[in-house]
Amino acid sequence: MDGNGRWAKERNLPRVAGHRAGVKTVKTIVQTAIETGIPYLTLYAFSQENWKRPKEEVSLLMELLDYFIDHEIRSLKKEGVSFRTIGHIEALPPHTLEKVRQAVASTAENRKLILTIALNYGARTEILDAVRKLLREAEQNPAGGNGSHPLDEQKFSSCLYTAGVPDPDLLIRTSGEMRLSNFLLWQLSYSEIYITRKYWPDFGKADFLKAIREYARRERRFGDVRAL
Ligand code: FPP
Repeated sequence: MDGNGRWAKERNLPRVAGHRAGVKTVKTIVQTAIETGIPYLTLYAFSQENWKRPKEEVSLLMELLDYFIDHEIRSLKKEGVSFRTIGHIEALPPHTLEKVRQAVASTAENRKLILTIALNYGARTEILDAVRKLLREAEQNPAGGNGSHPLDEQKFSSCLYTAGVPDPDLLIRTSGEMRLSNFLLWQLSYSEIYITRKYWPDFGKADFLKAIREYARRERRFGDVRAL
């Protein structure tokens, strides 16, 4: 969800105004995903590196998350959305953490749309956490017997924060940046990438549908010579 700051700067507004406008886009995109029948949507809201931003901006981002949960979760729950997170959420301010946990718990049974918000997320840390988990398992079960699954891609994926969620078909990055920015590095191996110059606050329903249409035209070969 990139470009909030530049969107605000172009309007001579403080950066936080860009983030506020960004929340409206979050609502639009989540709603469009529900209407379109997209089963999984993952939004990169706050990276591990984002703590380096000015304290006021970080606080405002947390407040916007509080606001989103306070104002949206009830209706999202009714619409069948499961609200989940990836990342080290325990570092969030305590009252935000509490809201996040309640939102996750209260929507856990839903299946229409799995909405995952990356919060204090970093893909390299996620991969290291998976390795640590595997090492712990190996320590507890040194012979590798006792029903332990051999280490293959499926097993490794099951140790990531996104366990149970399929790898993304499509990665959309707004604001024209050509980077992955430490996002889902393992999971994006075969994803289609769509980059738009539009800033996140300007990215609307029509833009999202355009990205999906473009994705539908892509030929995915997964290394084969034929499309699958
Ligand atoms: C990147 O734009 C955006 C962020 C770091 C924050 C995204 C957060 C929200 C849209 C609001 C909170 C989220 C939810 C789910 C309610 P940037 O600030 O890096 O923009 P710039 O590159 O133009 O400076």
